[in-house]
Formats: sequence, structure tokens, C-alpha cells
Amino acid sequence: MELREVVVDLEQLLGPQCRRRPVKLTTQLPESEVRVQATRDALKQALINLSVNALEAMPEGGNLELRLDRIDSRAVLSVTDTGPGVPLDIREKIFSMHFTTKGSGTGIGLYVARNVAESSGGNLRVDSEPGQGARFEIELPVLSGRG
Ligand SMILES: Nc1ncnc2c1ncn2[C@@H]1O[C@H](COP(=O)(O)OP(=O)(O)OP(=O)(O)O)[C@@H](O)[C@H]1O
Ligand SMILES: [Mg+2]
Repeated sequence: MELREVVVDLEQLLGPQCRRRPVKLTTQLPESEVRVQATRDALKQALINLSVNALEAMPEGGNLELRLDRIDSRAVLSVTDTGPGVPLDIREKIFSMHFTTKGSGTGIGLYVARNVAESSGGNLRVDSEPGQGARFEIELPVLSGRG
């Protein structure tokens, strides 16, 4: 499947919710297509989970950036927000099933997203400066050739 299309779909899906908050949504895509071996709907769901978390982290508004970068043989999908970030002491726990800091959260979103990334031969990581937002990255191996 082709990843730029998924990011464009996601951008359209998030547009109305972003305008309501208001969150400024930006998207960065590479010029040529990036193909990976993955289940489209599962990957889309993983990105939705990351984006919903980003929006929930910015109730007063902020910036949400969706990016797709190709780095050698890897595709990197990232969701970056300008919320409070993820405190260091829970940085790895957040991926556990049922871990949540939200009153009404189920703590399933990141667990599912990591499973989706890993089942396509990739991984999901977080990078966060406390107080300066969070960046979640799904890295996947790119299909070689013209695919
Ligand atoms: N963008 C983010 N900024 C700050 N903290 C985050 C962010 N994304 C996730 N977290 C932290 O990780 C926890 C787990 O996230 P996860 O998506 O798995 O569950 P949830 O959002 O709490 O509930 P659910 O997604 O099931 O509704 C969150 O409760 C929150 O503490
Ligand atoms: Mg969530």
C-alpha cells in the first residue's frame, strides 16, 4: 500500500475536529510515493489513535503535524503535537494495555498502534520534551523497487 494516500485521508478526517479546537494542522509529504507491506485499515486506525491522543493533549489548541518521511529503506510516519508532552517516568508504560492517565480512557490506543506497527515489521516510538509536546513515530520498512 501507498503511505501518502493514508496521510491525506487522515488530514481530511481530522480537519473538522482541528478547526473546532482550534488546532493548526500541517502535513508534510515526500514527492514520490512510499510503498509498504501493511494492512491499510489497521495502519489508518493506528494513526487515528495517535492523532486523537494528540488532540486530547491540546484541549486549548496548538499545532498538530502529520509527516511522512522516507529515510533510506525506512518510512517514518509521525504525529507531533504541542501539548504538555509525556512525563519521563511513564514514557514506556504508556504502551501497555489499559495504561491511561485519562478519567475516561481505556488505555488501548497506543497498545493497538504499537501492535499494528510491529505486525508490519516496524515499530512505534515516542520522543517528548516535557512541556514542549510529543512526537510519535511509526517506522516501517519500505518495499523496494517500483512496487
Ligand atoms: N500525545 C500525547 N501527549 C501526552 N500524553 C500522551 C499522548 N499520547 C498518549 N499519552 C499518554 O499515554 C496514555 C495512553 O494512551 P492510549 O492512547 O493508549 O490510551 P488513552 O488515550 O488513555 O485511552 P484510549 O486511547 O483507549 O481512549 C494516555 O493516557 C496519556 O497519558
Ligand atoms: Mg488514546
